[in-house]
Amino acid sequence: MNVSLQPSEGGGSISPTNLRVRIMPYLSDFKSRRVPFVHRIILIMAAGALTFGGPRCPAFPAIAHAAAQPQASAPQPEARYEVRANHDPNGTGRFYMGREIAQVMGAGGIAWLDRPEREDQEQPEVVIGAMGLQGGEVVADLGAGSGYFTFRMASKVGKTGKVLAVDIQDEMLETLRQRAAANGITNVEEVKATETDPHLPAKAVDMVLMVDVYHELAYPYEVITRVREALKPGGRVVFVEYRKEDPRVPIKEVHKMSVEQLTKEMKSAGLVRVRTVESLPSQHIVIFAKRE
Ligand SMILES: C[S@@+](CC[C@H](N)C(=O)[O-])C[C@H]1O[C@@H](n2cnc3c(N)ncnc32)[C@H](O)[C@@H]1O
Repeated sequence: MNVSLQPSEGGGSISPTNLRVRIMPYLSDFKSRRVPFVHRIILIMAAGALTFGGPRCPAFPAIAHAAAQPQASAPQPEARYEVRANHDPNGTGRFYMGREIAQVMGAGGIAWLDRPEREDQEQPEVVIGAMGLQGGEVVADLGAGSGYFTFRMASKVGKTGKVLAVDIQDEMLETLRQRAAANGITNVEEVKATETDPHLPAKAVDMVLMVDVYHELAYPYEVITRVREALKPGGRVVFVEYRKEDPRVPIKEVHKMSVEQLTKEMKSAGLVRVRTVESLPSQHIVIFAKRE
């Protein structure tokens, strides 16, 4: 899949520059003297405010403030990420807190996700067991892919519960939809995410699972911030990632994650590690909760 380096959603703030462009046609009219006197006065004030800064002109304080504020209080997504020319060919060249972000696995990887030997290699029942799912819970499979974990979770939460199967790729969501329909599964809801937002409902999710996903999020900080907002009190976030600490794990380096790195990144987004399970052959299961 072609991975965009830009977030799919943006603030679209009103800047003095584009407002100045918007009022240019009026300024032209002004020069040709077809504008009534009162309108001319208003246009002079507007041009002055936008050229010299709003705070000096009481007619436009909000516009100038809105343009300046986001820089001070909320850094734009790209400010968190560093782009390096020298990087792993399997990576994106974008770095977050010192580690390179991997490329997203495309829909061509479905056969690999569904491979029969995965049962032995990744032991999904151990993962599901570690999650301790209860009937009636609302859970999310973030980066659900073809649903390898989605449908296992669906049978645990039962008909009174729900699995939100979240992905950014339409092909993955369509595969999930077809498989749910073919098997008469009614407690799986497909959710289309963007690179910065998993589109989960606020304070409504008991547990979020991410299996082999976190290392390839283009905007990990933004996604985890949304995930934290989606958790119910006492909610958990469960990561399954290949062990970076073990050079014998036969997976490309950018697709691995150490517990230390993950813990550092979660801390910056307001999550604390509550448990680590190291019983899988090649991966860790790392569980986080909200820092209260
Ligand atoms: C390696 S696959 C893992 C799929 C599944 N978790 C599994 O274990 O079979 C990673 C999946 O994460 C999805 N993904 C990547 N970035 C995402 C994002 N920002 N939000 C939601 N899904 C994302 C990809 O489209 C892909 O389907």
